Amino acid sequence: MLRNKQIILGVSGSIAAYKAVDLASRLSQAKTNIKVVMTKAATAFVTPLSFSAISGHTTVTDLFSSGDITHINITAHADCIIIAPATANTIAKLANGIGDNALTSIVLAAKCPLFIAPAMNERMWLNKATQANVALLRGRGVLFIGPRIGALACGDTGIGRMAEPDEIINYLRDFFIRQNQLANKHIIITAGGTEEIIDSIRFIGNRSSGKMGYALAEAAKARGAEVTLIAPPSELTAPGVRLVNVRTAADMHQAVLEGFAEADAVIMSAAVSDYHVANTCSSKIKKNNKPLILRLEPNVDILEELGKSKESQVLIGFAAEADDLISNAQKKLVAKNLDFIIANDINQRAGGFASNNNQAVIISNNDIEPLPLMTKRELADIIIDRLSAIISNT
Ligand code: CTP
Repeated sequence: MLRNKQIILGVSGSIAAYKAVDLASRLSQAKTNIKVVMTKAATAFVTPLSFSAISGHTTVTDLFSSGDITHINITAHADCIIIAPATANTIAKLANGIGDNALTSIVLAAKCPLFIAPAMNERMWLNKATQANVALLRGRGVLFIGPRIGALACGDTGIGRMAEPDEIINYLRDFFIRQNQLANKHIIITAGGTEEIIDSIRFIGNRSSGKMGYALAEAAKARGAEVTLIAPPSELTAPGVRLVNVRTAADMHQAVLEGFAEADAVIMSAAVSDYHVANTCSSKIKKNNKPLILRLEPNVDILEELGKSKESQVLIGFAAEADDLISNAQKKLVAKNLDFIIANDINQRAGGFASNNNQAVIISNNDIEPLPLMTKRELADIIIDRLSAIISNT
């Protein structure tokens, strides 16, 4: 999959730059056409000559040395840019659109996918400024590989270690295999917990974080799908997809219906409230000493309704269960006429609502597939794999 790909390898100033030499060598063995761009700080760790020898092209360290407009020309046919290692400083510049060296100018001029493999001390990675910059870049569709937990150059152990060249190569290979798998497909994904209004400032909610749905949106977008993410406002960053903010189950219902006829698939990962308050108050309810009675009436089951009216759309649901995980999820699979359902045990300790991890079972009419504990992003890729298989068979 990597053969003949035009890849720009950006190297910034970290001790992990030595790993970039190995990465360049493996990319070259995979018959890619790589051009290497280094920041000035990177040249303090590894010489440009090492990369020139491996890539067969002069390593770019200065925008103006070759007398042409390198940053525009070099990007013209690039299939992707991978920055490995990416320092906190380079990440900050990219987040803010700064082009003060060859690498950052090239990224500014490029239209191709950008991958970033960060490498830094744990405190620098966890610094709020770095995390805000990462979130901003993710929101623009930039894909991060790592960093990983391990021994750091400063002698500490923690998160900040650059992903190994093998992992980066596998990630790029998977990316190119999947890149156009869902091209021209429109996928609606719902995420987070809906909110039911009690009065002008209060609502009934639930503890869904939305992380699973956002991970699904990122995974579907990485396959070339056109994604509409429907979710309540949250601090999560939508990964460069169309975001429709809704609060109540009724609003979510309407937003899903608006896109349904044109959609190829709907993934309902939202925790939709089953009831709404019938006796809402338009101002703030004042307290008194009497009991306050809220009358709850059932909401429409969005997925069940889609299941009744679906034509060729693939429908995927989630089942949050406290007991009898498999049999309860199977009942929902049938009742809602789904292609498959992802069953979650809400009592699981290691994963769950606010966690970045999840342990799930994928259930279809002819299969029960228990999965190990993994990150929500990894689970999202498996779900999108299953979805792609169904779409490509229809
Ligand atoms: N769902 C929906 N509309 C609702 C309630 C749920 O579309 N009003 C969807 C959810 O997004 C999920 C699936 O149906 O994909 C199952 O939701 P879940 O809360 O697990 O089950 P319910 O059908 O609501 O049943 P119960 O709460 O009794 O388990």
